[in-house]
Amino acid sequence: MRITMIGSGYVGLVSGTCFADFGHDVVCVDKDQGKIERLLAGKMPIYEPGLEDLVARNVQAGRLRFTTDLKDGVKDADAVFIAVGTPSRRGDGHADLSYVYAAAKEIGEAITGYTVIVTKSTVPVGTGDEVERIIGEAAPDADFGVVSNPEFLREGAAIDDFKRPDRIVIGSEDERATDVMRQVYRPLYLNAAPILVTRRRTAELIKYAGNAFLATKITFINEIADLCEKVGADVKDVSRGIGLDNRIGAKFLHAGPGYGGSCFPKDTLALLKTSQDYDAPQRIVEAVVAVNDNRKRAMGRKIVHAMGDDVRGKTVAVLGLTFKPNTDDMRDSPAIAVIQTLQDAGATVKAYDPEGMEQAEKLLGDVVYCKGPYEAIEGADALAIVTEWDQFRALDLDRVKSLLKTPVLIDLRNIYTPDEIAAAGFQYTSIGR
Ligand code: UDX
Repeated sequence: MRITMIGSGYVGLVSGTCFADFGHDVVCVDKDQGKIERLLAGKMPIYEPGLEDLVARNVQAGRLRFTTDLKDGVKDADAVFIAVGTPSRRGDGHADLSYVYAAAKEIGEAITGYTVIVTKSTVPVGTGDEVERIIGEAAPDADFGVVSNPEFLREGAAIDDFKRPDRIVIGSEDERATDVMRQVYRPLYLNAAPILVTRRRTAELIKYAGNAFLATKITFINEIADLCEKVGADVKDVSRGIGLDNRIGAKFLHAGPGYGGSCFPKDTLALLKTSQDYDAPQRIVEAVVAVNDNRKRAMGRKIVHAMGDDVRGKTVAVLGLTFKPNTDDMRDSPAIAVIQTLQDAGATVKAYDPEGMEQAEKLLGDVVYCKGPYEAIEGADALAIVTEWDQFRALDLDRVKSLLKTPVLIDLRNIYTPDEIAAAGFQYTSIGR
């Protein structure tokens, strides 16, 4: 199959590379000349474990190309994926579809022969209809089908998620397009990944409903964690106790500082907008969004509280800035609100993150960025762990204690156990324990 990815960002690049690795002939297109030049030179625009090697292998095998020339990429393709960004529109929270529609128009002008256009970007219900209309308008004689094929890739585990998905969702309005998609995903369903074929609007909603449900699960356990603290229960055991019930499932029940990232915050907001447009209120998701927003600043206040309610003139060492480990992504990271709250309360923040500091510097001024965890900790009045990078899981606690002015440790990801930290002589605050 000849596959073209429009948009060589996170989703497009990972998906395109994995399709190439399955033996398809793939072209990744992007308007950003600099990005394409860097990709041609083997440099990745994002940090994703394993991606650089996979790109190199497939480029070398001649199955993966990069170009800024959309027409050239699209003209002979069997399937053209739209994987451009759909950021939250400033002001109203709606997903901004201008990049998707612009891509659709250009694709329409470039296709030759029967082509399936696939929306991979997360798009509100009904976008597929509009993409179909735009292409039809741009090329009245074009022979094409439009399908929705949402992605379910987690940053940091995206290659594995692509190659071993829980399911593949294809939203299609015609058999011919569905057949092309089955060919595209053939290597995967031979691996026994279930393919769910639905109507197009249903597939579009599956993506939003899935992410909103996961965000709800996280927010639910976060509120239960607050209750645990009040009643003297342990949220880790509560998670395990409920998660072992198959109807609930163990995943996404880790209490923490609130969800962030490029998907959950944006997609929950977009779902709420759609629900307003169609007058079908999603009260649970509304509550989730509000609770999660409040939680991020509350985590800053929790640190202030652990430091005796007054941090003026004090220094906090923050370890972990990205919204989760194994990414350099700072989008909607809880660390942003946590650090701002600490600074508003008068504290100085020293910080270290293995991959996120370049992005963090653009968002957070007045932070002292350090070269390693111990440099951040040295001379601080407290240590706050905000993102659970593996390298923070086995800190040399004696060294940490000797470097801190006071042995105060706030662990917003529960990566240590209260007993071991108490034994090491720290005043320890964690989540829901
Ligand atoms: C998510 C979805 O998992 C993926 O299917 C979708 O396509 C894109 O959005 P991602 O944003 O990369 O992926 O990260 P994920 O691992 O889902 O974590 C999202 C946020 O929730 C992070 O801030 C993480 O720290 C938080 N989280 C996750 C928790 O606080 N507790 C959990 O139990 C799980």
